[in-house]
Amino acid sequence: MAKKITHQIEAELLDYSELDSEQKALVDEAKGMLDQAYAPYSKFHVGAAVLLEGGAVIKGSNQENAAYPSGLCAERVAIFSAGANYPQQKIKVIAIVAKPQGAKDFVMASSCGNCRQAMMEYESNQSEPIQLLFVRPNNEILKTTVGDLLPFGFDSKSLNG
Ligand code: THU
Repeated sequence: MAKKITHQIEAELLDYSELDSEQKALVDEAKGMLDQAYAPYSKFHVGAAVLLEGGAVIKGSNQENAAYPSGLCAERVAIFSAGANYPQQKIKVIAIVAKPQGAKDFVMASSCGNCRQAMMEYESNQSEPIQLLFVRPNNEILKTTVGDLLPFGFDSKSLNG
């Protein structure tokens, strides 16, 4: 007989002013990346900032390509750079912000499926969840974790049966 599974995910809605100073600084770093996005095709600028356990902040912005699928989202630019340069360090927080070119306010870029999967690889390799801070319109922040964003995710444990 079919069995119903209920999976609860958690997220919090906060105002920017409610963040602690470390979180605020990370969100500010992500905002600062918007102008550096290379998004001539979508004109949708995205910035990401990754805070590592040692305190380093690794930043990224979306990098598009005339061959569209060859481009990469800001989240993966940032986390792959963190993984490449600081392979031993855990990721504590990732801040993500987006703004269409010419828009007055931010829009929430709820990471795409590929980015969720890529972030999950790092979260499942470390013992602590990675906190995500998504900037929404009116400087609201959606705070959650990678696991909450990708329930029933696939990771290296899945490969071993
Ligand atoms: N994009 C990101 O960088 N992150 C997201 O969370 C959503 C989408 C980028 C990909 C592409 O360059 C542009 O935004 C439009 O999809």
